[in-house]
Amino acid sequence: MKIKFNIRRFNPDDSKLNEPYFQAYDVEVTEGMTVLEALLKINEEQDPTLAFRKSCRSAICGSCAMKVNGFSKLTCSLQVIPEYKKKGRMVIEPLANHKQVKDLVVDLNPFWKKIEKVTPYLTPMDKEHEERSVSEEDEKTIDQSQRCIMCGCCNSECNALEIDSKFIAPAALAKAWRFVGDVREGDKKKRLERLSEEHGMWDCVRCIHCTQYCPKDVAPLKQIEMLRSSAMKAGILDNPGAKHVEAMADSVRRVGRLDEAAMTFKTLGFLRSIGMIPFGLKMELHGKMPLPILFPKIEKIEEVKKIYEEAAKQGTEQEKKKEE
Ligand code: SF4
Ligand code: SF4
Ligand code: FES
Repeated sequence: MKIKFNIRRFNPDDSKLNEPYFQAYDVEVTEGMTVLEALLKINEEQDPTLAFRKSCRSAICGSCAMKVNGFSKLTCSLQVIPEYKKKGRMVIEPLANHKQVKDLVVDLNPFWKKIEKVTPYLTPMDKEHEERSVSEEDEKTIDQSQRCIMCGCCNSECNALEIDSKFIAPAALAKAWRFVGDVREGDKKKRLERLSEEHGMWDCVRCIHCTQYCPKDVAPLKQIEMLRSSAMKAGILDNPGAKHVEAMADSVRRVGRLDEAAMTFKTLGFLRSIGMIPFGLKMELHGKMPLPILFPKIEKIEEVKKIYEEAAKQGTEQEKKKEE
């Protein structure tokens, strides 16, 4: 079966063509052939100048990640024919949110710098911490985050990273939980404080893309949620992210739904909220927000309060169990 591959190419050394462009290759594919094997075939039979990364060919090293038909995938574990039958095309591009260096190769330096920022190794406080054994139960907490192969698919699909290149991004956050969640780690609070700073974990917009496109089921968003929850339990509350969570919980407890105006004041403080007034007025005009002063409670608000009371009771019981 012959399939047309449209590949996004770029050669910074070509003075005539220094813009990315698409080049088509017709490839004879066989049953079971992976996208990476097809690229190698192009390389060997048609165009030795096509650049891309690969190594293990077994979904272990993470180096062959690219965008296939718009989504970040490991090309060594993606078969051509089923993908082509599903999408009706074969478009290969470099990972997004990374600078294209040449053809399908991207600059991963910013990716590694973000990983470095979360101190990707244990920092036990003392000998006792270092030698503490890790029970099966403790291991389960960090197991998923340990599966990462650093392929970059999650960062490539991250909406928050797309608008802010300084955002720490999901791969590094999943790695951060690997150490914050480790019972032997001695610097948990310091790590959580650093992650709560600007461009840190609270900038994630919870689009779930990182979890959806991770080929190793690391579920970065789940690790981010655990980091956030640990930070709040550790009393790291003086930042817009934690304030927003508190304001949201308070609003639902008070009126049974989101009181946007009150939440803005509690999250941003008085002075910064003044800048939001024109936006608030627009929402008001479009019927998106009830008048903040006369914010009505929902019917049966007492039922909502009971849920909060029950959740608090369960939380206390869980804490007690942990202490035992
Ligand atoms: S859930 Fe958060 S970290 Fe994950 S891709 Fe979306 S914005 Fe990025
Ligand atoms: S979390 Fe998943 S998608 Fe992100 S770098 Fe690790 S393995 Fe790749
Ligand atoms: S070549 Fe190693 S993960 Fe694909």
